Amino acid sequence: MAKKTLTIDDLKKSLTLIVGAKHILFPEREQDSLLCQPYLEESRGRSVGKALAIIFPSSTEEVAQVVATCRHHKTPVVPQGGNTGRCLAAQTDDENAVVINLKNLNKIRQLDEDNLTITVEAGCILSEVQDYAAQAGLFFPLSLGSEGSCQIGGNLATNAGGINVLRYGNARELTLGVEVVTANGTVLNELYGLRKNNTGYDLKNLVIGSEGTLGIITAVTLKLFPPEMNNEHAFIAVNDIDSAVQCLRSLQQCFGNKISTFELMPKQAMDFLAKHSELRCPINADYPWYVWYKIADSNPNTPLFEENLAILDQLMKQGVISAATVAQNESMKQNFAKIRETIVEVQKCEGHSIKFDVSVPVSAIATLVEKGNAAARAICPDIRPYPFGHVGDGNLHYNFNCPVGMDDETYRLNYQEKLQHAIYDIIDGLDGSFSAEHGIGSQKLAEMKYYKDPVALDLMRRIKHAFDPFYLMNPGKVIPPLKKKYSE
Ligand code: MLT
Ligand code: ZN
Repeated sequence: MAKKTLTIDDLKKSLTLIVGAKHILFPEREQDSLLCQPYLEESRGRSVGKALAIIFPSSTEEVAQVVATCRHHKTPVVPQGGNTGRCLAAQTDDENAVVINLKNLNKIRQLDEDNLTITVEAGCILSEVQDYAAQAGLFFPLSLGSEGSCQIGGNLATNAGGINVLRYGNARELTLGVEVVTANGTVLNELYGLRKNNTGYDLKNLVIGSEGTLGIITAVTLKLFPPEMNNEHAFIAVNDIDSAVQCLRSLQQCFGNKISTFELMPKQAMDFLAKHSELRCPINADYPWYVWYKIADSNPNTPLFEENLAILDQLMKQGVISAATVAQNESMKQNFAKIRETIVEVQKCEGHSIKFDVSVPVSAIATLVEKGNAAARAICPDIRPYPFGHVGDGNLHYNFNCPVGMDDETYRLNYQEKLQHAIYDIIDGLDGSFSAEHGIGSQKLAEMKYYKDPVALDLMRRIKHAFDPFYLMNPGKVIPPLKKKYSE
């Protein structure tokens, strides 16, 4: 008997049968096209992709069936969480690809208070995981600007960072176990809540940060911590980045890992805040740099407030910091955090910015900014550098706003490529990373090709092949095609 050729319609029917008609959208169908928009659009609205279908499975078994069916049809799959990523990992331009959105896998499976773990499905919103832990008197420390909409599966797939990495680590360090649908539709159950488990290769840590290219994370077991009952927030001003780093070192010497957040912001950010928001810099005078930091302890009786004032006093006398204000109540604390979050938003009101998410050793941050600003100004004299971020982790969001009055297109076309070469070369020279916490997606493939160690890339290709021999799991992401040259 002749073998039946599989058609697109067969695939659509099979997928619809797995999840039900209510849980699948087809962009080409008129009634679906508007509904598809949020799943096809990039998080900053820069581009709108294409897909054959967007499917919303409700269980691990359904995800496995969808993947197996797509494999049978040799159809690529693109896993998607809250679609808040920065490097286009959850989008596709392939009109034959199926986007698998995990939002309906949203159950909290288990909270183990004695083991200090929580097991949740991939589609749980990060803030819901934080809240659930808090209701049980515990703390899940992963925290980022998009926490009200990003999903925990996506956080792991991209090894998300955020503002508490200094103390608690990235998503990877917060994860004990994963459940993953593999490329052939089987389920890898490594959902352990174990802090010791030396049983061969660490598959969990391969999948974390793989951006859906090795498998689809469907559930995770996460570490919890005692809550930061006792916390102090300060907003300080410094004259240069070296002083900020010196201040961080003194705080770490005094408080050890009780310092959980240390975020640098330039004066430009305070100017943009004043111009484009209701928020104002808590220090009522101009300085080149500001830092918001937090120290926290689970013991309510530790005299953190007094200890913090004492060290601030000492640092002022030493001339390390120029001004400081400490939060006197919860609303001031929230205000400091809001300011940090909003400096990302207000930047958009100033036109196009060319963005870098880079890391160097903490000791090299000042050199990075000095060299980076000089190189950028040599390329575009009136460029407006906007470096901010997680200085305690050596991670800067080193953005460059267009000169006042220059239109976005002119800026992008004339300067983006030159600036990328210049900044990435500086990063490379400082033994840094061209992607600190936002990942690779399809956006940084050229950088992967050009700056990543070739031995590492070769091993990554082999790992990819072992996990996904037909290249159907989020193809075109993370691993650059073999022949592509930098800037192509
Ligand atoms: C941040 O730390 O605010 C973000 O990672 C920056 C961004 O989303 O571009
Ligand atoms: Zn960040």
